[in-house]
Amino acid sequence: MNLIEIKDLYENKENFIDKEIEVGGWVRSIRDSKTFGFIVLNDGTCFKPLQVVYSDKLDNFSEVSKTNIGAALIVKGKLVATPNAKQPFEIQADEVYVEGESTPDYPLQKKRHSFEYLRTISHLRPRTNTFQAVFRVRSLCAYAIHKFFQEQGFVYVHTPLITGSDCEGAGEMFQVTTMDLNNVPKTEEGKVDYTEDFFGKPTNLTVSGQLNGETYAMAFKKIYTFGPTFRAENSNTTRHAAEFWMIEPEIAFADLADDMELAEAMIKYVIKYVLENAPEEMNFFNNFVDKGLLDRLNHVINSEFGRVTYTEAIKLLEEHNDKFEYKVSWGVDLQTEHERYLTEQIFKRPVFVTDYPKEIKAFYMKLNKDGKTVAAMDCLVPGIGEIIGGSQREENYEVLTKRMEELGLNEKDYQFYLDLRKYGTARHAGFGLGFERMIMYLTGMGNIRDVIPFPRTVNNCEL
Ligand code: 4AD
Repeated sequence: MNLIEIKDLYENKENFIDKEIEVGGWVRSIRDSKTFGFIVLNDGTCFKPLQVVYSDKLDNFSEVSKTNIGAALIVKGKLVATPNAKQPFEIQADEVYVEGESTPDYPLQKKRHSFEYLRTISHLRPRTNTFQAVFRVRSLCAYAIHKFFQEQGFVYVHTPLITGSDCEGAGEMFQVTTMDLNNVPKTEEGKVDYTEDFFGKPTNLTVSGQLNGETYAMAFKKIYTFGPTFRAENSNTTRHAAEFWMIEPEIAFADLADDMELAEAMIKYVIKYVLENAPEEMNFFNNFVDKGLLDRLNHVINSEFGRVTYTEAIKLLEEHNDKFEYKVSWGVDLQTEHERYLTEQIFKRPVFVTDYPKEIKAFYMKLNKDGKTVAAMDCLVPGIGEIIGGSQREENYEVLTKRMEELGLNEKDYQFYLDLRKYGTARHAGFGLGFERMIMYLTGMGNIRDVIPFPRTVNNCEL
């Protein structure tokens, strides 16, 4: 079928004006009088719709006039220029074929629906303006990330989703099993007998591809992963999901400063790419979702990210302890309220916080000379807080095994990881960017549930 896409009409209108064309799409709105009518048609190829004008010259005028919002139509007719700058043309229909009718109870009527309501119909919400914009930006952003890394020669590694180890050591894993949970086999000591399970041992959905990613960085020098990760965190917040996507680059012969440089360059590249390639969508967000969005993003591209150590950050935050629900002191993990205060009130731009106490960070991070802190960095951005977590990795076999022992980790489970420190160990560093948090940052959308096509959060796994 030779349907012209609406995107093509806007991009190359001079090729189509006064010509006969055929388009297919879904009805956004329809109004008719006795002898003519207007349909706003959207075909999903671009943000803007196409206006269809039809009249009683159509054989099936009354059938068309009776169609409901949501119906799928094919329209044949002449594209004519209009004096309207926003909609510089319309199609005068010679034929309208009703490909698929929609019933009057179609849930997306021509009015504003709340995001909460739209979450209950996640299969239909991509047909609304906001979600067309969100998911087009999400798609572009994914492409921009691949482009950024591929242009620099990074190798894209597909790390496994089912693993036998807990990368972050936080115990927030979804277990994977084929055992019948109503009849779990037990050993003589009464423990679960995993030898009966599919993999013969406990396994879980991955919380991060990092450990596997590191093994490839030690072969390819610079790699990245980009895939789904899973966390059984019982956090019912606007920025936590149980299933989210993470981008995890890993670079060999690199330290924490190189890591931050890479993260900053990546964020700026992606913002620029999306601003250039989705101007309609970004203007929409700026007008209807977050008024200062474009100014803020343009400012970010042109400014240098702040850098502050955890110890300095704590000193800065302690001065404002009266404003926080959770009081700050050296050793505590930063809460969202602290992160946002730092980036929004103190630095007024994205900021890297570095060198956290080892007790609140993962086992694999490089121990600093002070013996108390590790070479970690979190990137905090206004409106969200943490968007990236990363570190230089501990490359010294003895220091790493000692740390693992302190934390009660079983060396046997991490043999492959320790091998990297035995066979040609090298300085290396990496980070994880939460993809959904990046989309929230780019669009100004305030809830992670509204930037994932089918969100999975505590007590919610619909569709
Ligand atoms: O700081 P995290 O836990 O770091 C890691 O997983 C490292 N292995 C990354 C690395 O060094 N390769 O998570 C990284 C990022 C966070 O900054 C956040 O943006 C996102 O992943 N994230 C979540 N996003 C949505 N929902 C959740 N439950 C998230 N948990 C982490």
